[in-house]
Amino acid sequence: MTLIPTLRTDRLVLDGFRLEDAEEVERLVGEEQIARFTLNIPHPYPAGAAATWIAEHKKDLRRGQGLAFAVRLPDRRIVGCVGLRIERRHDRGELGYWIGLPFWGQGYATEAARACLVFGFEHFALHKIVASHMTSNPASGRVMEKLGMTREAERLQHTRKDGVYHDQTDYGLLRASFEPRAARPEVSRRSAPPPSGRARRALRGR
Ligand SMILES: CC(C)(COP(=O)(O)OP(=O)(O)OC[C@H]1O[C@@H](n2cnc3c(N)ncnc32)[C@H](O)[C@@H]1OP(=O)(O)O)[C@@H](O)C(=O)NCCC(=O)NCCS
Repeated sequence: MTLIPTLRTDRLVLDGFRLEDAEEVERLVGEEQIARFTLNIPHPYPAGAAATWIAEHKKDLRRGQGLAFAVRLPDRRIVGCVGLRIERRHDRGELGYWIGLPFWGQGYATEAARACLVFGFEHFALHKIVASHMTSNPASGRVMEKLGMTREAERLQHTRKDGVYHDQTDYGLLRASFEPRAARPEVSRRSAPPPSGRARRALRGR
């Protein structure tokens, strides 16, 4: 049983990855088009790496360093992943996501990321959520725009992947400016850890 809560949106269920998901994760992230625009996904994707990655999620959550949601269709099929890395010192989170190739272009990244933003602002009481994409990956920039994020910076040759330097575009969103727009995700209370004292104080102040 995972401590990661279950969020429900109109078309998707977001919950924790389980070890039995590892094979499907490897199949989806094994596509070169997924690895190409993500800094931490190697290509070819090594056998067994997904199981290691999934095992790390509980530690991250326990330490308050972040969480990764499996993005699923209602029949439990994995569509992708959306997650937050938390920098508690700054009450800031960094949003990241990937969607499996067969599911591109159907609005799933935007729908899942929006639910993750709501959760980050409310449950983790974040003040700001940022996200970055390789400038050569405009589809990801479009997702950030659709989420209402503001383009804050263009960084030239800011990251290196497989020996090549890449320009990066940074987006940010302040909690005060966030409009969930779509219906709020339904959070399963049974599996959600209780909000922190800081979160409760922040939510009372709204
Ligand atoms: C980026 C990614 C998550 C988008 O997933 P998705 O579910 O297809 O995204 P959505 O359908 O919610 O939105 C995609 C938007 O980008 C647009 N788009 C797609 N290709 C584009 C391109 N080459 N240039 C500009 N916009 C593009 C789509 O038209 C859509 O916008 P619209 O709704 O206004 O038409 C997916 O392509 C992916 O996983 N890529 C590889 C991993 C990755 O890039 N992760 C993000 C790292 S920052």
